[in-house]
Amino acid sequence: MNLMQKIIAHAQANKQRIVLPEGNEDRTLRAANRLLADEVADILLIGDPAEIKQLAVAKGLSHIEKATVINPTGCPRKAAYIDLLYELRKAKGMTPEKAAQLVENPLYLGCLMIKAGDADGEIAGARNTTGDVLRPALQIIKTAPGISSVSGAFLMFTKAPEYGKHGLLVFADCAVIPNPTAKELAEIAVITARTTHAIAGIEPRVAMLSFSTKGSASNEMVDKVVEATRLAHEMNPDLLIDGELQTDAALVPEIASRKAPGSPVAGKANVLIFPSLEVGNIAYKLVERLGGAEAVGPILQGMSAPVNDLSRGCSAEDIYKMVAISANQAIAHKKK
Ligand code: ACO
Repeated sequence: MNLMQKIIAHAQANKQRIVLPEGNEDRTLRAANRLLADEVADILLIGDPAEIKQLAVAKGLSHIEKATVINPTGCPRKAAYIDLLYELRKAKGMTPEKAAQLVENPLYLGCLMIKAGDADGEIAGARNTTGDVLRPALQIIKTAPGISSVSGAFLMFTKAPEYGKHGLLVFADCAVIPNPTAKELAEIAVITARTTHAIAGIEPRVAMLSFSTKGSASNEMVDKVVEATRLAHEMNPDLLIDGELQTDAALVPEIASRKAPGSPVAGKANVLIFPSLEVGNIAYKLVERLGGAEAVGPILQGMSAPVNDLSRGCSAEDIYKMVAISANQAIAHKKK
């Protein structure tokens, strides 16, 4: 059984309620149909019930009838969600009138359902931008205890079995924080190590990447990575983490032995932490497009319940996998 099959089997054995706010979107409906057929999760689709029924019939998606469809304009719990949103955000200027409008936005409704305990996780982004998916999640679901920054990791199934775990590496942050401070970068490292253990099932060895290895260059950008490494050590003294490292020193044993001798991580890193979103986002797309890796994610980490974003170029297969991953995250959250 490969890693993705294990993730799917774990979801099937512990069915979670996953809400899909883009309920009338073609790839979402196709993924939902397969997820329901394979019993990977209980699917909650947000949208007009009559429209979703008609689309399912037209596309021959017979399992959609097993989904729960929530109409954003007429859902039975609407008043409770309006109150919840108002209470959560009144200190930030929310009014009951504004809350009543926002509840009809499927991206807000999905997060409110999770916050109210009516769903366990959410996936969106086939049609909406990352910012639009993340903002309600950050405002309503918020970060997990002890974490202040949400970030996004990718499982990178590369074609280079000599690196990571048989070619599997975890990259972060590739999705959320444009220019992290040293503290945010440290949190990204610590939380990505947790994701690596919880979702990929591997012992993390975290490389804090830079254009310098162990003082070979001096620059304020390098200083930030050095400081982040120190802070991450403080946050989790047991974590195998080292920095600052260049990518070759992080991955290639012979280069590591020359550039970073004695490092517990260099030459055998399986988690790569990038110094900024620019680098992380560009790097994962290069490895995916030029290196032929399969990129699964972004897996959003640090939130107090799983909300995951999709690329607008995603396939139904990507949505299927991200629902299974979100279900695994929800199971891990409940265990905590
Ligand atoms: N972690 C935790 N909380 C956060 C974070 C974060 N990373 N960022 C913002 N917040 C909180 C704020 O503190 C604020 O909370 P409050 O309202 O309770 O005080 C709330 O979220 C909203 O913050 P804003 O500043 O209003 O939100 P902003 O407009 O900055 O949006 C966002 C945040 C959407 C994450 C923004 O940083 C962003 O757009 N990031 C880049 C996303 C992106 O485009 N990624 C690349 C594409 S993804 C891909 O290719 C896979």
